Amino acid sequence: MNDFIAGIPKAELHLHIEGTLEPELLLTLAERNKIQLPYKSESDVKKAYQFADLQSFLDIYYQGASVLIEEQDFYDLTWAYLCKAHQENLQHVEIFFDPQTHTSRDIKFEVVINGITAALKQAEKQYHISSCLILCFLRHLPEAEAFNTLNQALFYKDQIIAVGLDSSEKGNPPEKFVNVFEQARKAGFLTVAHAGEEGPADYIWQALNLLKVSRIDHGIRCDEDKSLMKKLATDQVPLTLCPLSNVKLRVFNTMAEHNFKKLLDANLCVTVNSDDPAYFGGYITANMQAIATSFNLNKQHIYQLTKNAFNASFAGEERKQVLLQSLHDYMSLHC
Ligand code: ADE
Ligand code: ZN
Repeated sequence: MNDFIAGIPKAELHLHIEGTLEPELLLTLAERNKIQLPYKSESDVKKAYQFADLQSFLDIYYQGASVLIEEQDFYDLTWAYLCKAHQENLQHVEIFFDPQTHTSRDIKFEVVINGITAALKQAEKQYHISSCLILCFLRHLPEAEAFNTLNQALFYKDQIIAVGLDSSEKGNPPEKFVNVFEQARKAGFLTVAHAGEEGPADYIWQALNLLKVSRIDHGIRCDEDKSLMKKLATDQVPLTLCPLSNVKLRVFNTMAEHNFKKLLDANLCVTVNSDDPAYFGGYITANMQAIATSFNLNKQHIYQLTKNAFNASFAGEERKQVLLQSLHDYMSLHC
């Protein structure tokens, strides 16, 4: 089963590029840019990656992002991820980036996006990996700052497919961002939002009804509300689940306690993703293997998860058909 999962063509729909910063590159960039970090070695860094909840992770994650200064740094970060993606047979990736984490340190928006998109273009050429870029607003900051970010994003409209919402969820409900999301939709962006990761099921309703999202990122707390479960199943709203993240951030104590199988069995459109793999101990293959082991999944389950991801992606119709065909070809060969 592990080999089957490793080889199947895949799509990643929930990945923060800043969350792919591996300890080795973190230390290299800190030295290159003369940034002081409280770590001397990779093992110091790894020791610090013990989290009690989302906020304790975010504190370390934003500190890590402080080593990203030059366009080349954003390129190196993204390219390192795409090389891993290629090794794991990812055919399509949708990448979140958090411009405010960088513009707040006086790094220009253009530096961030130019570095990331140069690597995405290279991966398309060299590895035939298609990609979309999703700009996330930091929800712990005021809506006015999200508006500033949106205004900068308008200059890069053709390179950004959607806007999203991430960072500290509790106390920062989707309704706080209703105006900026409306403006973003008017400008032609699709929308997604982290909701129901640590926050209540009501935040998922808000993301759907107020932010008009195409997908819910995480959404695991939907099972606290029966009518929400029904709505998600009926409308087949995709959920981008991130199992290793949820265990590492103690949303669930163990993988066996994760509600993944409950959501799958309730006929929700679930997908499996890696969130911040450098911090949570594994990329997409490891996430799929972890749930396959914990829930005794078969090849048909893995096929369903992958098909869900291709269908839920923002790839164009033609590309989607190519992705689905590659999946069917793989299944014919291996089943
Ligand atoms: N930013 C990076 N990873 C995140 C997560 N899992 N939840 C919210 N914001 C994030
Ligand atoms: Zn996330």
